[in-house]
Amino acid sequence: MTDASSPARFDMEISSIRYLNPFPKDIIVSSDAVFPAESRHLQLRFHERLREALRFRAFLKESLGQTMNGLGYLHVETPTLFKSTSEGAREFLVPTRRAGYAYALPQSPQQYKQVLMASGLGGYYQFARCYRDEDHRADRQPEFTQMDLEKSFATGETIMEDVEKVVQRAWDAMRDEYVLKDDGTSFIPVKRASQQQSLDGSSSTANPSNISEYPHISTPFPRMKYDDCMTLYGSDKPDLRIPNTILRVDEKLSADFVGMISHLESPVVEAWKFSLHEDVDRREAQTFLRGFMENLHKSFHQNPDGAPQALVYDSSKPLQGFSALGPEGLGALQEAATPESGLAELQDGDMVVFQARQKRPHQGGSTKLGEFRVALYHAAIEAGLLERDNSFRFLWVTDFPMFTPDEEVDVGQGGSSGFSATHHPFTAPLGPEDVDLLLADPLKARGDHYDLVLNGVELGGGSRRIHVAKMQEYVLRDILGLDKVKMAEFSHLLKALRAGCPPHAGFALGFDRFVAVLGGASSVRDVIAFPKNNKGVDEFAGGPGRISDEALETYHLQLKKRK
Ligand code: AMO
Repeated sequence: MTDASSPARFDMEISSIRYLNPFPKDIIVSSDAVFPAESRHLQLRFHERLREALRFRAFLKESLGQTMNGLGYLHVETPTLFKSTSEGAREFLVPTRRAGYAYALPQSPQQYKQVLMASGLGGYYQFARCYRDEDHRADRQPEFTQMDLEKSFATGETIMEDVEKVVQRAWDAMRDEYVLKDDGTSFIPVKRASQQQSLDGSSSTANPSNISEYPHISTPFPRMKYDDCMTLYGSDKPDLRIPNTILRVDEKLSADFVGMISHLESPVVEAWKFSLHEDVDRREAQTFLRGFMENLHKSFHQNPDGAPQALVYDSSKPLQGFSALGPEGLGALQEAATPESGLAELQDGDMVVFQARQKRPHQGGSTKLGEFRVALYHAAIEAGLLERDNSFRFLWVTDFPMFTPDEEVDVGQGGSSGFSATHHPFTAPLGPEDVDLLLADPLKARGDHYDLVLNGVELGGGSRRIHVAKMQEYVLRDILGLDKVKMAEFSHLLKALRAGCPPHAGFALGFDRFVAVLGGASSVRDVIAFPKNNKGVDEFAGGPGRISDEALETYHLQLKKRK
């Protein structure tokens, strides 16, 4: 017998073994076998970590859903055969047997959930499958899941509070059930119960030193305006674990230095300080930086605003390695430094990166220095020159510009204005002054749009909506410049708003990203049972497949002859 605190162990006597299925000889299974993506069934079967990720996903889904039910949101499923509208992302079309007609898979249930509010439902949520035909990245899949929600008579404040409650409860439930296991390159969540077993000695791999508790998080999450994020971190989804903020320094730099790093006429020049682990000496820092710069993506070196220039503080060199700034350059820079920039205190091996950009209001998701900052930070961790930070830093980003110039967006609404909605075209202007700006200077208007960010990942986004049909029509037609055909795509939504719709607001949590970040996965692919690869291909099943001549016939389609 075992006592209640230690797991029970039994001896089993096997009298006969009978196989249910023959196991093919050509499948070699060993503890270090790596199976290709085409054999996803074997990956899932033999990689406990993948299966555990799916259990972790199911656990979080259950927890989030329970809280949503408790908060009075009703689970409603909306169609996944929708129609094409200019909501913002490129869609997948589904041809039909009716000649010339196609459904579109929803990029999100946005329009349906707003119609549910117009229908008097009060509060809705759903784990919604969404489809977007966009460039593939580690945190994107063409088919993904959102925990989508909407509430009537709500403002952005109400929604942010509800989202905080839901995330906090899921987090606490996760803390009760899981601990963090450091696996050298990242961490994985492991069940407390299984870990207890290891600690009791039933597993020879037990190593309590790499096990830690998930830290506590507290709400409300901090908030920061879009403009401040871009100025201080060069990103609209800042990773608050990365030390030191960006500082604008062009007024402190000599014209010679500015001319050396940029051909722009009076650019903004920004500086950012980066320190490696204190044991790393200046030579090691130089070598690391050189290697990093050599491997830097060409978009940095070929940036028309100028390439980044990084200098390493070296007390053995003239002007501590900052002679490019001129005799007084470093002193002037340090005098102007804010405490958050860390620039006033430089030690051997510290790097200061300078980057020029055009003098204009921020637009888009990042500046080049912001991207450089993220890349250098992660490269230093990968090189073992900086300790990995396993903390979780949530942030609300608010006060986004309502519109973004078309050159900064992938698809947008395709209106004649030359800009598109930053979030989507149903987002309400933030305040009365922003309503006035819609006509006077739309690119200056702010939207009542909020994003939830965790460790540099946009976990979710939402907004207060335009609930008055006339205003929605005005934004689509007169501000975004949609033509008659595109306006007609939204007739169902305008019809529902026209029938009287309460003010409402909502949010969508990118559920795959939520699971990936909480579970220490570097890609959402690792938390999806059957993901697509970075070309959008389902390597296991082989989708998308070629369209047969018969199917072309059925759907009244014809392939264009290649020239
Ligand atoms: P948004 O477009 O910001 O908002 O999407 C919400 C969240 O969904 C996740 N996400 C993705 N996850 C994986 N792969 C993708 N391709 C992908 N695209 C987006 C992100 C993102 O923050 N209808 C609005 C929400 C609202 O206003 O209520 C919407 O979809 O985590």
